[in-house]
Amino acid sequence: MRVVVAKSASAAASMVADLVEGFIGTSPSPALGLATGETMEPVFAELVRRHREQALSFAGVRAYLLDEYLGLDRGDRRAYRTVVDRLLAGHVDFEAGAVRGPNPHATDLDAECARYERAVREASIGLQLLGIGSNGHIAFNEPGSPLDSTTRVVTLSEATRTDNARFFGSGQPVPAEAITQGLATIAAAGELLLLACGRHKAGAVARAVEGPVTTEVPASALQLHPKVTVVLDPPASTGLTRPERATGS
Ligand code: GLP
Repeated sequence: MRVVVAKSASAAASMVADLVEGFIGTSPSPALGLATGETMEPVFAELVRRHREQALSFAGVRAYLLDEYLGLDRGDRRAYRTVVDRLLAGHVDFEAGAVRGPNPHATDLDAECARYERAVREASIGLQLLGIGSNGHIAFNEPGSPLDSTTRVVTLSEATRTDNARFFGSGQPVPAEAITQGLATIAAAGELLLLACGRHKAGAVARAVEGPVTTEVPASALQLHPKVTVVLDPPASTGLTRPERATGS
């Protein structure tokens, strides 16, 4: 695992954009795993900027979302598919149908999870972007998620619903359930790239990077993967007890 502490949150986002651009530029048939959340917003903005100003092209790139809320209306602006369209896909040159996610409106959700799991495995994700929840979740794999979990319907923890309440209006509850790729689905990607920014992520980052591999900290499963880069801003690195292991940007 390579841990990089960038000089700032914007430098960290820029570094992640560099790695995405490098992946797209060197892979003959790039399959990119997309994460959502506030952490990814500056990464998407930087990728859009590079598309506009530096001709970074997403033609030929297939992209797969990690997770999706259940129970929102079609087109709800909080749905992750809508977020990705609004902040990234709607501004760059993905081909029609190239951005995919689990369908939260399917009548048979178990069948939909199995279908999406197959689609992601067949795509063979080359680079998977990840954020981390303050409780150590990745995608919507909450504490207790098995290491061999695959795409499934999950119940969100109260901690995650509280964290994500800022995206929802007062009086509008955060959905209680979601579809998420499992820890085994994520681990099948060729390379994992986790971005975390802010002091509120420092505890989860330290437990994921330095703590024991445990299902109580789903992100600690990254330690088992052969190719992982963790990019942090300085506040997110403050929980590391062996910061000398990390490199600067
Ligand atoms: C959300 C998403 C995760 C994301 C994480 C962090 O619940 N399901 O994929 O990485 O929480 O979100 P944020 O970047 O908004 O802190």
